[in-house]
Amino acid sequence: MSCRIGVLASGRGSNLQSIIDNVESGFIPAEIVVVISDKPRVFALERAQKHGIEGLYVNPKDFGKREDFDARLVEELRARKVDLVLLAGYMRLITPGFVKAFKDRIMNIHPALLPNFPGLHGQRDALDYGVKISGCTVHFVDDDVDHGPIIVQAAVPVLEDDDEASLSKRILGQEHRIYPLAVKWFCEGKLKVRGRRVEVKGETAGILPSAPRG
Ligand code: GRF
Repeated sequence: MSCRIGVLASGRGSNLQSIIDNVESGFIPAEIVVVISDKPRVFALERAQKHGIEGLYVNPKDFGKREDFDARLVEELRARKVDLVLLAGYMRLITPGFVKAFKDRIMNIHPALLPNFPGLHGQRDALDYGVKISGCTVHFVDDDVDHGPIIVQAAVPVLEDDDEASLSKRILGQEHRIYPLAVKWFCEGKLKVRGRRVEVKGETAGILPSAPRG
């Protein structure tokens, strides 16, 4: 049975594109059945259209409360029998009802090595703090922001002359590597959540680029 993926995006959708490419190449055994955006006319929706994927804009202003908006999203995702929800540059906070409806089936990618530098400016905050290594994190979504169990991380160096743009670009290169990998593992049934820890069956999981075993 192929895995049915729904993607939530609010912007340019380069992570969406990396998932699309890896589905089309057969690396991820899945089908992207819908891309939902909370913003009209974003590039993520264009990417979906270009690849024959249904794109849906849902206007948050049509709903009184965040919970009601999320309930609609859950309804749309369930109607399409979505197994896995991917947040890909989705700029809204998910409410507990949504998390519960797709428990351990919502992933997010964050441009820092969590638990360091959560929030909207992971790259800038890492730079300002002066760390020598940063990176990105794919994690399951729970009720707290950028907090759920970590599936995979990749590290990149922070160079002397980096600014926010150059560091973001280096991190993004790794995002496009590890998000598809995490999704592939999920779709192959390899991920098991045990409390805060995510077990990846039969893989050298955890840190990328690959760390030595033992
Ligand atoms: C990425 O940096 C991702 O880590 C963060 O939002 C950005 C989205 O970029 N959550 P894109 O829309 O996937 O290009």
